[in-house]
Amino acid sequence: MNKTITFTINPESIAVITVNNPPVNALSHSVREGLVNVLAEIAKNQQIKAVVIACAGRTFIAGADISEFGKPQQEPLLPEVIAKLQTFPKPIVAALHGSVLGGGFELALSCHFRVAIAGTKVGLPEVSLGLIPGSNGTQLLPRIVPVEQALTMMTSGKPVALKSDDKSGLVDEVVSDNVLQAAINFAQRVIAEKRTVTPIPERTVLASNLSTDYFDGWRKKLLKRARGQQAQQCIVTAVENATQLSFNEGISKEREMFVNCRESAQSRAMRHAFFAEKKASLLPDIDKSIEPEKIIRIGVIGAGTMGQGIAMCFASADFSVHMLEMTEASLQTGLQAIADRYQQSVSRGRLSTEQRQTNISLITGSCSYPDLSDCDLVIEAAFESMAVKEEIFSQLDQICKPDAILASNTSYLDINRIAAATQRPEKVLGMHFFSPANIMKLLEVVKADQTSDQTLVTAMAVGKNIGKISVAVGHCYGFVGNRMYACYGREANMLLLEGATPEQIDHAMESWGMAMGPLAVNDMSGIDIAYKARRENPNLPDDPRYFRAADLMVENGRLGRKTSAGFYKYVDGKSLNDPDVEDILTRESVRLNIIQRAISNTEIQNRLIFALINEGARILEEGVVNKASDIDVIWLNGYGFPRFRGGPMQYAKELGLGKVKQTLQGFEETMGAKYWKPAEYFLTCGTEKDFFN
Ligand code: COA
Repeated sequence: MNKTITFTINPESIAVITVNNPPVNALSHSVREGLVNVLAEIAKNQQIKAVVIACAGRTFIAGADISEFGKPQQEPLLPEVIAKLQTFPKPIVAALHGSVLGGGFELALSCHFRVAIAGTKVGLPEVSLGLIPGSNGTQLLPRIVPVEQALTMMTSGKPVALKSDDKSGLVDEVVSDNVLQAAINFAQRVIAEKRTVTPIPERTVLASNLSTDYFDGWRKKLLKRARGQQAQQCIVTAVENATQLSFNEGISKEREMFVNCRESAQSRAMRHAFFAEKKASLLPDIDKSIEPEKIIRIGVIGAGTMGQGIAMCFASADFSVHMLEMTEASLQTGLQAIADRYQQSVSRGRLSTEQRQTNISLITGSCSYPDLSDCDLVIEAAFESMAVKEEIFSQLDQICKPDAILASNTSYLDINRIAAATQRPEKVLGMHFFSPANIMKLLEVVKADQTSDQTLVTAMAVGKNIGKISVAVGHCYGFVGNRMYACYGREANMLLLEGATPEQIDHAMESWGMAMGPLAVNDMSGIDIAYKARRENPNLPDDPRYFRAADLMVENGRLGRKTSAGFYKYVDGKSLNDPDVEDILTRESVRLNIIQRAISNTEIQNRLIFALINEGARILEEGVVNKASDIDVIWLNGYGFPRFRGGPMQYAKELGLGKVKQTLQGFEETMGAKYWKPAEYFLTCGTEKDFFN
């Protein structure tokens, strides 16, 4: 008895197949097997004239079962199910709701007709998992929408939300409610009108006379937009095939490319990222019965760039926010900046004028601490100085209601000391947003020694409510992200003294896949910020080379973009190599007795990435995070780490324990144990299987 697939025959002789495989009706083995069996039964039953396929629960089939990838395959595979639908002797109508994605959409396209409820999202998002559609999608889609649209949908992976007046051709009918009944009615009309059915595979590709130049143009565009990713390129080839080959030839080449992608490190990495993000909110050591507290009103201290972004996150999610500043002038500047930033979103078509107005009206401000007395959560985003923070938290403790949570947005300071300035350390924690806070998805939720589980659970839930990917981390200097970034930046700075140029380092890292090179990032965020932070770091290594290049920039008045000079010079907003920087660095190398040499891109990439891997292992070993994948989530969402490499820990896992140890030991031999002693973790983690799991 297959529990995921059932069917009933209605009085009008229509068989209604229901897929029931919660939570998202993924095409697991039992679904595929059930469908094949049920279709065979329906084909034999003379009484049945047409078929409707519908799904129970919140969505139609949302795709292949991603958790089955990488495991031994169990037949029937999806292409077999799809082929059975395409050649089925009776008309089949798919009743669509929710998210009709990937294999789910390919299955719907293989039915003869599609009826959807307005708002249904349809799409082929396989590229976000490093895949191409593998069950005819690349050949079916360009037969119902123009090639340009098919390529746009598949290479972006973005689903299309169907409107009630949809004319896209993606479905045959959009209804406003009861999609199941609408699909049954549709099937009845098909029978009554004896409609002829031309299955999509028998149709021709729309605009099939496109030239090779057209597809080369797409390939070139994607080399930039989807740098380093193979699936996007394969999709272009598959669609080009659709314009030139028969349907059967097209699907066999598609399958070949799909299997290659599925077995690739890129796809493994992107599947890892998908599940890592879902797992990030799990707190294994915390009692699951603890419910988050109700948070309604938010206080934000500081109306600078960070405070503005934080206030915007909350207002955009319908929270009421009160901002506190030291002077009326800085408050007004902050509030005006928020209004301007929302206006930019309106100009870019991302926000309606009404929504902007609503969001702005949710944010109030003042210069008086007692105005925060009714807040449920106050987030401090003031100047990064322990003395300033201690003063703020002591004031907050006196005026805030006893059960209010007090959070600091500090990027590295000791939350335990901040908590000690209050009488409620169990209610104090870090909520570290990433700049621009209203855009970046990551939130590090930092548990200090005395933070209660209740407070942590509440902060994680708040993060989810404002659309962040929240990762709970333990306490240490720089937490997870910035602690690792210091190691990555350390190597970039060393390499500058050893003879690499800023441009070479940035280019090497960008071509490896990082969204931006480290020195361009530093120029953008302001070199002086980390410079000041280093002066507050109690654990600064005793090493004249440590971040010396960055310190020299600051000492020469080169603070980054804001002074039109940093590691680069900036002319009309463009970054250019600056011979002055090379002079400064060369002179310093001579002073420090460092012999400059030619450095390869591979050396740059290995030193920066292995610095991350080694520090990540230490973080894991110290229990600052409870799973390796949390480190990956932080790097993917906060630091522009390429998703197709899955995060530093997944990248290491892909290399293998032996290779990682060997590389680190090699670096230890050539560069010394100070920075390169392999983390204990590598000696104690056991086998490959346990490695970063
Ligand atoms: N295979 C296996 N499990 C899946 C899945 C899939 N294709 N899609 C979602 N899930 C799981 C999630 O891991 C999650 O599991 P959990 O509850 O144990 O954490 C659960 O289903 C719910 O998913 P979630 O993303 O939390 O729900 P949502 O309502 O926010 O979003 C989707 C639903 C379908 C839009 C979203 O999950 C999604 O985009 N899935 C991937 C779809 C896809 O890429 N399909 C093509 C595959 S080739």
